[in-house]
Amino acid sequence: MKALTRIKMNLKLWLLCRVVFFSMLSVSYGRKTPNFRVKAVNLGGWLVTEGWIKPSLFDGIHNKDFLDGTGVQFKSVATGKYLSAENGGGTIIVANRTDASGWETFKLWRINETTFQFRVFNKQFVGLDGIEVVAVSKTSIGSLTFEIVRKGDDLNHVRIKASNGFFLQAKTKELVTADFAGESNWGDDDPSVFLITIAGRLEGEFQVTNGYGPDKAPQVMREHWSTFIVEADFKFIAANGLNAVRIPVGWWIASGPTPPLPYVGGSLKALDNAFLWAQKYGIKIIIDLHAAPGSQNGFEHSSSRDGSQQWGETDENIKQTVGVIDFLTARYAKSPSLYAVELINEPLAPGVILERLTKYYKAGYEAVRKHSSTAYVVLSNRLGKHEPRELFPLASGLMGSVVDLHYYNLFNSDLFGNLTVQQNIDFIHTNRTSELNFVTTSNGPLTFVGEWVAEWEVKGATKEQYQRFAVAQLEVYGRATFGWAYWTLKNVNNHWSLEWNIKNGYIKL
Ligand SMILES: *[C@@H]1O[C@H](CO)[C@@H](O)[C@H](O)[C@H]1NC(C)=O
Ligand SMILES: *[C@@H]1O[C@H](CO)[C@@H](O)[C@H](O)[C@H]1NC(C)=O
Ligand SMILES: *[C@@H]1O[C@H](CO)[C@@H](O)[C@H](O)[C@H]1NC(C)=O
Ligand SMILES: *[C@@H]1O[C@H](CO)[C@@H](O)[C@H](O)[C@H]1NC(C)=O
Repeated sequence: MKALTRIKMNLKLWLLCRVVFFSMLSVSYGRKTPNFRVKAVNLGGWLVTEGWIKPSLFDGIHNKDFLDGTGVQFKSVATGKYLSAENGGGTIIVANRTDASGWETFKLWRINETTFQFRVFNKQFVGLDGIEVVAVSKTSIGSLTFEIVRKGDDLNHVRIKASNGFFLQAKTKELVTADFAGESNWGDDDPSVFLITIAGRLEGEFQVTNGYGPDKAPQVMREHWSTFIVEADFKFIAANGLNAVRIPVGWWIASGPTPPLPYVGGSLKALDNAFLWAQKYGIKIIIDLHAAPGSQNGFEHSSSRDGSQQWGETDENIKQTVGVIDFLTARYAKSPSLYAVELINEPLAPGVILERLTKYYKAGYEAVRKHSSTAYVVLSNRLGKHEPRELFPLASGLMGSVVDLHYYNLFNSDLFGNLTVQQNIDFIHTNRTSELNFVTTSNGPLTFVGEWVAEWEVKGATKEQYQRFAVAQLEVYGRATFGWAYWTLKNVNNHWSLEWNIKNGYIKL
């Protein structure tokens, strides 16, 4: 009896799916511009952590100054010189630099809250040759670990204890050794005392999960996923003139309940919820693979461990990434809310070379089409120096493909640092319009401004000036043939929060 009911239910569901499927098929996208245009908001900082969006997520981490990828510099108090990986790595560590820059910066790999490894500019790990400190090992496994010992509440003075039990000392400008035994009076003549400077931080998914560690991270992350974005947000989105969301996800979402450490399972459940809520409120979803294995741009938002970028270097890595796309499309292909799958976000040139990216895009496109003939496939243009139409030869052969462009009047102080309010607005009308026109062609891919924000370098702008800036962008990006997506829905930095903008009357859709 029960079994029969279930078979009937399944049949009904199956029929329903067929109907949805065929009615979707009859909507031909071809090379025609769809009538429907995406007016979306990104759900940034939800399933892929970005510390600047929600700094409090990091509050409970012990020793949170020292997370993976934090760049530290050490100046010997005895010699007044910085430690440096000679030649950037591959040989000895010296203590003879007056100024600190790349070679003098050591990136942390956090083992636990007190123990670290140091990675130098050329990516070697710091270790020992006898008692002499060197940077030659290409792998972290078996490399020396260090404890950074602080001088009580004084956060600037540290000593570095190697796992051989001895402290590092700058014996001479050319000789750094790990052979200083015992206590210190922290005097200015002590060769084992260093002034520490933090020269850069990453606050992404790797940092937050590894920072909390395997015991605490699962609880913290699940709490974040279930509270940062909730059903009421979809209701708000639908009620305020938006019709879609772009949801950044990380590759580990496809790894089930126990992804490789330090990642934590459970983001898939959150994404399942998003699909339920989206269906309830008639919202479309663009799944966006924001963090690909190995990191496609070295930024925290692609979950780089230490700023390095390795995505796409091997066929195995590309295959793994295609597997993530395959998994996600298979899971949601039957949902009426699945509108598009973005294969990778912001691959950065020149690290990601076009030929490797093209290889991946072809395979990723096939993976989507294996499960869905209707979902659009979004190809992100590369960041960095590239030709804006470089994906066209590929995209022209792929039905339902879209090129994603991100337009910020930020991140380039040479260009935007000194612009006035009016110059910013003119830049949208003139320069963005011509950039968008250049990539909007009758037989090419659709165009998508997948990230933009009503924020700029202008200081102390009035509400009315912000409003004009937003209106200009909405007008211009409204001409993108696929649509646009604001970055982002929620953010402690008000202007980056579309929710704040809407609630406070800065943006009206
Ligand atoms: C951190 O790791 C080191 C090296 O494995 C170990 O000796 C130490 O006990 C660990 N400390 C904590 C707090 O887990
Ligand atoms: C630092 O020491 C190394 C090793 O002796 C030497 O090759 C290099 O030129 C020195 N650099 C400076 C700035 O003194
Ligand atoms: C911006 O203005 C400042 C102050 O007038 C000036 O020093 C700087 O060179 C300008 N920068 C650019 C990129 O024009
Ligand atoms: C923006 O477009 C105008 C008009 O074509 C041009 O003169 C100007 O150089 C452009 N600005 C930038 C920063 O490219």
